[in-house]
Amino acid sequence: MTTPPDTTFSPRLSQQVQRLRPSSTIAVTSRALEMQRSGIDVLSMAAGEPDFDTPAHVVAAAKQAIDAGKTRYTQVQGIPELREAIAAKLKRENGLNYTAEQVTVGNGGKQSLFNAFFALLDPGDEVLIPAPYWVSYPEMVRFAGGVPMAVTTRPEDGYRLDVDVLKAAITPRTKLIVLNSPGNPTGAVFPEATLRAVAELAQQHGLTILTDEMYEHIIYDHQHVSIARFAPEHTLTVNGASKAYAMTGWRIGYAAGPLPLVKAMNAIQGQSTSNASSVSQWAAAAAIADSREFIEMARGKFQERRDRIVAGLNALGLPTPTPDGAFYVLADTTRIHADELEATRIILDEARVAVVPGTDFLAPGRVRLSYATSLEQIGAVLERLKTL
Ligand SMILES: Cc1ncc(COP(=O)(O)O)c(C=O)c1O
Repeated sequence: MTTPPDTTFSPRLSQQVQRLRPSSTIAVTSRALEMQRSGIDVLSMAAGEPDFDTPAHVVAAAKQAIDAGKTRYTQVQGIPELREAIAAKLKRENGLNYTAEQVTVGNGGKQSLFNAFFALLDPGDEVLIPAPYWVSYPEMVRFAGGVPMAVTTRPEDGYRLDVDVLKAAITPRTKLIVLNSPGNPTGAVFPEATLRAVAELAQQHGLTILTDEMYEHIIYDHQHVSIARFAPEHTLTVNGASKAYAMTGWRIGYAAGPLPLVKAMNAIQGQSTSNASSVSQWAAAAAIADSREFIEMARGKFQERRDRIVAGLNALGLPTPTPDGAFYVLADTTRIHADELEATRIILDEARVAVVPGTDFLAPGRVRLSYATSLEQIGAVLERLKTL
């Protein structure tokens, strides 16, 4: 005898997972995909990834790794060759002194960030995050039991952080400051003086800094500065291969910092996903060892596209500050509709352009456009927006 199916049963989901908020970015992307599938020609400015192919020498390194049978489990924290290449890169490009043991490799920067939040946060710990921010920070913080605290930055300041505002947000529960410069979605680059002041605050208040430097190479007329130079014992530097070397699908990210923190992150990864893909690790080692030519090519193209889209949007009465880095702009769409979700819908339905509402980034009245796309597409998008 079999028990009849209980159609009323549904697994009881954890409180933790119920705290996760669905991303409005994904909602827009799926709506745009649906429209495309039904034959409507939608131009997407929503993607968060470079449109270039992974450099040839990186692809060649991956093929070589497969042929050489580098297809087995690796150390949880990553192969020594990659961690040594990362430590050498951090020295060469960022002026940071880390041993390979202080480096941990994850399945994308996302996993390194996730491991870091879980390694650092106890329930109720507060995390200061300059806003507008990348949507995954507050979600990961909440998931780890922490409390995300937005620190406002303003478009009229180019979204650069005011250290006095950050300082005023510190409470006895504050444990961590998240920095992301150049930033997604603002493109803001924090000046060295700001980074020095934040480092000093962390030292005075016994805080840890998590700096996400994913967009360090996509920077215009500025020099990237790593905050770990000023307070290495307080800082975890997170970076990855996705944006710098057009390797989003390879899923390689990394973090470097104080050994006890890195070891804690390794322990979390060891009980969850283990090592990042062995083949991707060999590819990333080749990318990190030398990709200067590719980086310069990409930066030049991104700068041309930034200049075109910023000028075009401002000319259309959609005020858009000029970002100093990354490949996103935040356009003020209140002329189209006061509510950015409604503006996003109008832009999609009437101009057939997919953008991301600023809602989840804490950028009210604005939408994010990614210009990691051809100049031709940017031109076509601006033509379509003219109709609104
Ligand atoms: C600011 C920022 N950090 C981290 C990531 C994650 O990158 P990945 O997991 O591909 O390394 C992204 C991707 O969009 C990002 O924008």
